[in-house]
Amino acid sequence: VVAPTLVFNYSIPGVQKVNGRKKLAAQLFEELQGHAARVNQLSTVQLFSCDPGRASRMQLRAADGIMLDYSKNRIDRPTLETLGKLFQDCDAPLRLKQQLDGEPVNNTEHRPALHTAIRAAISKQPAPGHNQIEAEYQRAARFANSLYAGKRVGATGEPIRDVVNIGIGGSDLGPRMASTALSCFADAKVRVHFVSSLDDSELTAVLDALNPASTFFLISSKSFSTEETLFNARLALQWTEQHSDAGQGRAHFAAITGKSDQAAAFGIDRELIFDVPDWIGGRYSLWSCSGLALMIAIGNERFEQLLHGAWLMDQHARDNEFGQNMPAILAALEFWHASIQGYTTLAVVPYSYQLRLLPAYLQQLVMESNGKSARRDGSAARYTTSPVLWGTSGTEGQHSYHQLLHQGTEIIPVDFILCRRLPGTSAESTTRLASHCLAQSKALMEGKTAQQAFEALQGSGVDDAEARRLARHKAMPGSRPSNTLVLPELTPSTLGALIALYEHKTFFCSVLWDINPFDQWGVELGKQLSQSIYPALEGQVATSFDPSTNALIDLLKN
Ligand code: F6P
Repeated sequence: VVAPTLVFNYSIPGVQKVNGRKKLAAQLFEELQGHAARVNQLSTVQLFSCDPGRASRMQLRAADGIMLDYSKNRIDRPTLETLGKLFQDCDAPLRLKQQLDGEPVNNTEHRPALHTAIRAAISKQPAPGHNQIEAEYQRAARFANSLYAGKRVGATGEPIRDVVNIGIGGSDLGPRMASTALSCFADAKVRVHFVSSLDDSELTAVLDALNPASTFFLISSKSFSTEETLFNARLALQWTEQHSDAGQGRAHFAAITGKSDQAAAFGIDRELIFDVPDWIGGRYSLWSCSGLALMIAIGNERFEQLLHGAWLMDQHARDNEFGQNMPAILAALEFWHASIQGYTTLAVVPYSYQLRLLPAYLQQLVMESNGKSARRDGSAARYTTSPVLWGTSGTEGQHSYHQLLHQGTEIIPVDFILCRRLPGTSAESTTRLASHCLAQSKALMEGKTAQQAFEALQGSGVDDAEARRLARHKAMPGSRPSNTLVLPELTPSTLGALIALYEHKTFFCSVLWDINPFDQWGVELGKQLSQSIYPALEGQVATSFDPSTNALIDLLKN
C-alpha cells in the first residue's frame, strides 16, 4: 500500500505562532508522509519481529482500569515520535486546558464547551459555574428520584409507571445508549422509553402499550425548536389529553431545554422545566439534565458514578503526556489513518450486546464534531479530516461486513471493545465473545499469504491445480489496523470513562485538524429547506425549487 499523495496546507493558523512553528507543523506532516512510505513496506507482523517490546510498550492504562492495545496498527516508534511532536506543536495540552477552564473554545458561537465542568462539579471538584451546575443538578435529581422510586402520581392519582423521553440527536442518543448499556442496573420502579423519529409509527408503537394515566413524558430539546421533537410532543399531548380532563394532560410533561419560555408556552409547568445551559453542546449533553431519562432508569447514585468515571478520564487526558495519554494516542492514530494513510472510515465494534448502540452514539459525537472542512480561521482544510464512523456489536458484523474488513480493497481501521465482565452475560458467553474479538484482530493483522493458503489446501487433499486456483481467493493481505480497548467490567463508571475517552479523542483530533468541534452549521441548511418543502408537498404553495426537487414534489403530490 502506497501512501496517497496529498496536496496539503497543513499548518496551525488558529493558534498564535511565530512563523518557524507554523512551518514545523507542515514539516511534521511531510515527515509523517515519509514514515508512511517506509512502514507501508513492512507488514505489521514484521514490525513486531523487529521490536520485541512492542506488545507491552503499545499498551496503555487509563481511568477506571480501561486498557488500550494499539500495537496492531501499522506504525512504529519513529512515527509515534513525530505524531507526538505534532501533538505538542499544535498545543493540544494547552487547548484542552482552555476547554476545561471554560474559555470560549467554540469560536463560531463564541461560547465555552463545558460538559466537563458538570462531571467535575458532581465529583465535588472545583469547576467553572460549580454552584449553578450543582443547584440545577439537585433539582433534577429530586425529580428523577420521585420517578425512580415510583413515588410520582399522575393527574388522576395513578402512580407513574412509564416515562417516555422524546428528543433527537444529543437529546436522545446519549441517554438511550447509556440506558441500554446499563440495562442491568436499571432497577427503577418505572420503565423508560425513547422516541426520536419523525415517523410517528415509532411513537404509536410505544404509546400502544402504555396507559395515559400512568405515563409521563420528558420533552428533551435544548433549542425547543426541533421539528421532530415538537411534532412528537404535540402528538403525545393529544394522546394524553384525549384520556384525561381538559388541560390535565400537561401535568404529565416535563421539559429539558435551554429555552424555558418556549417550553412554558407549550404549557409545561415552570417547576418541571430543567435547564440545559448554553455552554453544553447537544452531543455532549448526556452529563447534564439531558441525561434525566438515564438518571430515572438507573438512579442518581449510579448516574453520579457515570459522571465520576468521565471525570477520571478528564484527569487522565489533562495530566498525562502524549505517550501515556490514551485519548491523545487514539487521536494521533486517527490522524495518521485518515490524513496520512488515506483510510477514510473507522469501524467501532463492541463485543457486547449491551453496547450495541455505542457506534450510533459515537457517529454523532465524532462526525457532527469533526465532519468539517473549514479550519478555525475559515480557510479550507486541504487534508482529510474526520473518518466516517460506523459499526455494530460483535459478533453480528462477522457474518456481514467483516468480509470486506479482511479482503476488501478499502483499509478500514477498527476499534474493538471488550469487557472482561459483563453484567447480565454469563461467564461462558463473555469468554466466547472475547475469543471471537481476539481472533478477528489477529486475522486482520496477520492475514494469510497465497502460499499459506495453497499449502493448507494441499494439506487437506485438494489437487495442486485447484489449490493454486483457490489460493488466490483465500489469501488475505493482513496488516489491517485495529485498536483493542478492554474494560475491566461494564459499569456506570467505566461507561462514563469510555464515553469521555472518545470525547477527548475527538477534541484532540479537532486540534490536530485545526477545526472547531463544537458547532454544527452543516445540519442547518437541510432543516431550513424542509420548512419550505413541506407546504409545497401539502399543495399550499407552488413548487419553486430546482428541477429535480420540483419533479419529486410533483410525483409525491400526485
Ligand atoms: O440537528 C443537529 C442537532 O442540532 C444536534 O446537535 C442536537 O443534538 C440535535 O439537533 C437536537 O437538538 P435539540 O436538543 O435542540 O432538539
